[in-house]
Amino acid sequence: MVPELASRDHIKNIVPVVEEALKPVNLSELNGIGVTYGPGLIGSLLIGLSFAKSISYVLRIPFYGVNHIEGHIFSLFIEREIKTPFVALIVSGAHTELILVKRKGNYKLIGTTLDDAAGESFDKVARLLGFTYPGGPVIEKLALSGNRQAIRFPRAEVAGYDFSFSGLKTAVLYYLKKCKAQNIKYKTAELSDIAASFQEAAIDSLVDKLMAAATSFKIPRVGVAGGVAANSRLREKLKEVGEAKEIEVYFPKREFCTDNGVMIAVCAQYYLSKGKTSEFSLKANPGASLV
Ligand code: KG4
Ligand code: ZN
Repeated sequence: MVPELASRDHIKNIVPVVEEALKPVNLSELNGIGVTYGPGLIGSLLIGLSFAKSISYVLRIPFYGVNHIEGHIFSLFIEREIKTPFVALIVSGAHTELILVKRKGNYKLIGTTLDDAAGESFDKVARLLGFTYPGGPVIEKLALSGNRQAIRFPRAEVAGYDFSFSGLKTAVLYYLKKCKAQNIKYKTAELSDIAASFQEAAIDSLVDKLMAAATSFKIPRVGVAGGVAANSRLREKLKEVGEAKEIEVYFPKREFCTDNGVMIAVCAQYYLSKGKTSEFSLKANPGASLV
C-alpha cells in the first residue's frame, strides 16, 4: 500500500461514500458520530477524523474517537452481546493481538506477534505464489482444493502467548526455491497443496495460542475478529476445537471481519450512550495503543 495514494483515494471517496451510507437517514436523526483516530496510516486517519469533526461541528452533535483495535473487538457485538470476560484474538493485515477482554473498555494485552502479522503472512505467501493483495482470500480459495498435509511447514515455537509468522513465510519461500532449483514447475494442483499446507500451519498457531490462553485463564469463551477471521478453515477448526474443549467460540459475520464502519459505529454508540465524547483537540495517532 502506498500511503500517499491511499490518502488521495480517501479524499476522493469520503464524501460520496458518506452520502451513500446516509441516504436512508435524515441528517437531523443522527445523534453522534464515531470515527477511528488510530492506529493506522496517518494520512487516512487525518482525513477521516477531520471529516468527522466537521460534521460534528456543523450538526452540533458529539463525536467519539474509536481505537481501531477496539473497533475490531466491538465487531463481535454487532449481532449479539457476549458475556465477559472473554479472550479476543484480533488478526488483520497489521495486527495479531491476543487480548483479555475483562469487560467492554477494560482490556489486557496478553500476546502479540514478534514479527509479521497473521494477515501479512497470507499476503506475503500469496505474493510468492504470484498473486496480488489481499492474499488471504486467494490462499483460502486455492486451499479448498489442496491437501493440507501435503507439506509439513513449521509451526513457530514461541514461549507464552506471542506469535511468529516470518519463519513460516521463509519456509514457503525455501520450498519454492527448492522446486525452482530442481526445475519443478508447480501446477495449479501443487499450488493448492502449498496454499493448504501454509494455511493449516498459520491457523494451527492461532488456534493453539488462543485456546491455551482461554484454558489457562479458565475463561470458556473466545472471540476472533479482523480480516483473517473471515477465513473459513480458521472458523471451522476453532469451532471443532471449541466443541471438544467446551469453549464457546464467537466470530463476527464475514463482512464485519475486514475493516468496516459498522464496528466503529457500534463502539462509538456504546461510549456515547454512557455520555463519553471526544474533544475537537483529539489528534490522529498512527501508533495508538489499546491498553
Ligand atoms: O482487518 P483488515 O481488513 O485490515 C487491516 O486492518 O489490516 O484485514 C486485512 C487482512 C489482509 O492481510 C488479508 O489478506 C486478510 O486480512 N484476509 C484474510 C482473509 N480475508 C482477508 N486472511 C485469510 N483468509 C481470508 N479469507
Ligand atoms: Zn483492521
